[in-house]
Amino acid sequence: MEGEDSGQLPFPAESVVRLLLDWYAGSGRDLPWRHTRDPYAIWLSEVMLQQTGVETVIPYYRRFLERYPTVFELAGAPLEEIIELWAGLGYYRRARNLHAAAQQVVREHGGRFPATLTGLQGLPGVGRSTAGAILSIAFDIPAPILDGNVRRVLCRLFALQGDPRARSAEKKLWSWAAALTAQQRPHDYAQAIMDLGATLCMPRHPACGVCPLADLCLAHRQGVAALLPEARPRKQIPLRHQVALVLEHDGRVLVRRRGLDGMLGGLWEFPTRELLEGQVAQEVARELAIEHAAAVPCLTGKVRHVYSHFRLEVQLFMTKLPAGRGPIAESDDCKWVLYGDLAGLALHGAHRKAFDLLTSTKEQE
Ligand code: ADE
Repeated sequence: MEGEDSGQLPFPAESVVRLLLDWYAGSGRDLPWRHTRDPYAIWLSEVMLQQTGVETVIPYYRRFLERYPTVFELAGAPLEEIIELWAGLGYYRRARNLHAAAQQVVREHGGRFPATLTGLQGLPGVGRSTAGAILSIAFDIPAPILDGNVRRVLCRLFALQGDPRARSAEKKLWSWAAALTAQQRPHDYAQAIMDLGATLCMPRHPACGVCPLADLCLAHRQGVAALLPEARPRKQIPLRHQVALVLEHDGRVLVRRRGLDGMLGGLWEFPTRELLEGQVAQEVARELAIEHAAAVPCLTGKVRHVYSHFRLEVQLFMTKLPAGRGPIAESDDCKWVLYGDLAGLALHGAHRKAFDLLTSTKEQE
């Protein structure tokens, strides 16, 4: 155990563990990664689940395992391919880390995932909580977990007031997580506490009436479960503006792939320009059209999308190549795609929404 509060729990840790395990035996979810003990598959699921819900993750998890059945195939795949398969899951840094971690496991560990917290935390994209989850679930070695769901459960169980991300709160939460971590059946315990957070101890409407921990839960006993954890002050993230050009020719649309090194690298988009303060969208769109030897573009609509560090508003302009004009040559990072094939392309979030807007505009025509 670690931290200041261990040993001073308001109830015996074993009671919490027993109640959780009993509940999990009857009410735990049947999820695909619960049918394996393969550390590779479990690591894959945990990375995908870091910022994404179970329902969204399931088809991606299956697709990845089908394409890359072991860490060796994943390590040997081109990064562009992994990013394309990841498209739609968001937080693309995870895809890059996935690739780098797979290569590290092959290079440094002969393809076997390390069965220690420090070994796992040495892999790109694996923090303390993910390492704890992998160790517990894949290796059945007890290690604390503090992901979003567990954090909420613990904030309520111990009625933690104040900003749950404050340093002092963080210290307490890890110490409680460690104190509760089951010495027996860590594999089941890890998933039980995560499931409780996901299915009963939900953010806005906790189902305390059917919660196995309700009698112990301090927040419930104080009547404040729905008010905890306290909301953090929202961080203002900048709003950026872009102009995007949907350039049609012969039933196809021009798309470009973003450079692998930058933000959203490896994902596809319509030709795009940043719209700077004081610039007029129509003029920027016209310049972009001229660059592509296209006719005067026409505004079709706007979409907004929130990324982790900024919000993006894209104004979407449509245009065509003038008659008799040859299309821009294709390359690895620039291609003409049939309209019907755009749905399967790894467009990044804002441009996927732009595509949805185009589809609904076309349906109305
Ligand atoms: N969230 C993070 N890890 C999870 C898991 N193994 N099962 C369900 N939800 C999760």
